[in-house]
This record gives sequence, structure tokens and C-alpha cells, in this order.
Amino acid sequence: MDAQQVIDWERQYLLGVYKRPPIVFERGEGVWVYDTEGKKYLDLVAGIAVNALGYGDPEIPRIMAEQASKLIHLSNLYHTAPHVRLARRLVEQSFADKVFFANSGAEANEGAIKFARKYARTHHGEGKTVIVAFDGAFHGRTMGALALTPRPHYQDPFKPLMPDVRILPFNDVAAVQEGVDEQVAAVIVEPVQGEGGIRPADPAFLRALRDRTREVDALLIFDEVQCGLGRTGYLWAHEYYGITPDVLTVAKPLAGGLPMSAILMTQAVADVMEPGDHATTFGGGAVVSAVAEYVVSRLSDPAFLAHVRERGEQLLARLRALDDPRIVEIRGRGLMVGVEFSEDVAPFVARAPEHGLLLINAGPRVIRLVPPLTISEEEVDTAVDRFARLLGS
Ligand SMILES: Cc1ncc(COP(=O)(O)O)c(C=O)c1O
Repeated sequence: MDAQQVIDWERQYLLGVYKRPPIVFERGEGVWVYDTEGKKYLDLVAGIAVNALGYGDPEIPRIMAEQASKLIHLSNLYHTAPHVRLARRLVEQSFADKVFFANSGAEANEGAIKFARKYARTHHGEGKTVIVAFDGAFHGRTMGALALTPRPHYQDPFKPLMPDVRILPFNDVAAVQEGVDEQVAAVIVEPVQGEGGIRPADPAFLRALRDRTREVDALLIFDEVQCGLGRTGYLWAHEYYGITPDVLTVAKPLAGGLPMSAILMTQAVADVMEPGDHATTFGGGAVVSAVAEYVVSRLSDPAFLAHVRERGEQLLARLRALDDPRIVEIRGRGLMVGVEFSEDVAPFVARAPEHGLLLINAGPRVIRLVPPLTISEEEVDTAVDRFARLLGS
């Protein structure tokens, strides 16, 4: 198939919910992706913060092939080893005691909401059902997660939403005391907001949430679907804050580009869930689990995380040296960086491929830089040089 035919068939046969540039990609290598014409692009999107190890890591297809030749899927009716090994690794490297596997970020958040509702009902009876989320949050597109994602464009066509949701201002310590009351079953927050514009939570804000949720016995859920698993230069984004949640959701990079998510939780949360309370057919499948074990082992290597922090600092420093009056603020942690402009960034994102660069926005005025975590010093320089040329073009 040539590129034009792919684009034509896409328009004819696919649901039109995605806007794509008129390029057809064929393969990737490291931080580079190649189109069908052989042109290469430095990828600062990484499959939307998924491809942490870059493209073409040889271990991933090797592990997939080895596991697939033995067993791909059996369901959660039976014991298999790969997801147990992965769960043990996740527990040993986190605050958590138990893990539940699912298939996407939104599905992990749906599970977290259900666990919180069950926890509140078990310990406090009826009436403690409110889930608190924040302005600028993004937790997914399924009906529960959507209710916690307060953007009219995403929510309005699909109303009515899940009830008993309270949206509070992000990073507003003063709003926490009153907003998180005895009716609250859980507070869900991204330690670094992704889609909302790469906005890190203030330490005092997360501390206030941790203290207040303890006071009212609500669960604190950290959504680290985007900021977790090494992205910020820490295995878990919340490590930076020295604050642990009761429940943590992770997804994007977990299985090296295969769909997988996980809900990590304390024993107190796990204790309220019984057989039959929650399930998913594909969760923790053998192939994705085998790959994820390898991915997590790579992402939790201290030398790897140090590399992420160093490249992140280099990226921030190089971006801050750009002299462009349209840049309002540059912020981020590790290789999760946002460049806020005084104008709409859609034209920059659209023109980036002309400069051999792939970019994504985070809201209307922020360009989000979330490259593969394996990016080298030289590639960071190349990325910023191309970004500068794009701004000047
Ligand atoms: C913080 C956060 N939570 C949840 C999601 C939803 O994940 P998924 O698209 O895998 O359902 C995303 C996706 O961008 C996200 O960034």
C-alpha cells in the first residue's frame, strides 16, 4: 500500500475521531521514526509518553516471541507465572502490597474508583461516595474516568456523567480542607498533570491532600499513567514528594507499547475486595506481563533514572536559553516538559514534521515534550535546535 492509499482508506473505513498529519510511518529506531518515503523524524511524543525505551529495543520482540510461543492468553481463571513475577517486582519497588492488572489508563482509573467506593462502603456504610478530582486533570475517556476529567469538550456530549464527583482547584491548599469532607471516598490526582499542561503538583498541596484524606479516611489515588514509571526521573513521580498514596494507577510505558495497566494498592484497600468484585478478561496476560517485567527492570535501574534526570535538566536548560517572546513559561520534571506559549500552539505542532520533529500539545497553549527516555545528549541538542528552527520559521 502506498501512503496515499493508507490515508484514503483511513478516511473511508475508520471512525473519524482522530486528526492525523498526512504522513504514514513505517518503523522506528531509538528516538527516530521513519515514514514510507524514508524521511526520519526525531520523536518527542513517544507514542504519547509510552515508548520509554525508544524504538527497536531487541529484548521486547525476543521476550514476546518466547512467551507467545508458549502461551498468549489463558484468562484470569487460571494460574500463570508472568503476571505473578511482575506483581512481585512492582510490590517490591513501591509502597504497595497488592496489584491488579488491566489494559489501559482509563480502565485502571475505573478500577481505582470502584476500589475506593467499596472501601468507603465497607468501613463507613452508605453515603461516603464522593470522588474528588481537580481542574486540568485528565483521567481517561470511559464514563467514570470522564467524570473526573473536567473539560466541557470531552464531557458535554456524553452527559449525564457519573454522579458524586467534586472538582476542586489544582494546587490550591486552601480549598482542600473544606472540599475534602466526610462524604469523600477518594481523591484522585496526577502528581504531574500531563494533558492539563505539564503542571507539577506543589509539595504543600500533595501534603495537604495526604493529611486531609487520612483525617476523613478517604483514599488518596495517584494517577501516574503519564508521569509514572521513570518519566520524571524517579520510578514513581510521587517519590519526589516523599508522599505515598493508598492507590496508584500506571499504564502507558508499562509493557513497552503493548496495552497494559496496573492498579497498585495498600493491603488495607486490598482487604475490602473479594473474589468476583472486579475482573477483566485480558488483564495481566502472559505476553504483556513478560514484556512489562523487562520494561520495569530497565526503568527502575538507578543509572537509567539518573540519565533521565540529566537529560531532563539539559532539555530544560537548552529550552530556557531560547529567546522567544511568545514563550511564557517552561516547566517540567525529568523528561516530561511543557513549553507554555502566549498563543495557540496547534500551528507549531502541525509544522513540526517539516523540521523533522514530532511534537504534541498539552492543552491549547502548551507544547509537551515527552521523548523516549533513552534519548542521548546529542539528540536533546538536535531536538532543541530543530524546535528553535520551527519557532523561527
Ligand atoms: C494521567 C492520565 N490518566 C489516564 C489516561 C488515560 O489513559 P488511556 O488513554 O490509556 O486510557 C491518560 C492518557 O493520556 C493520562 O495521561
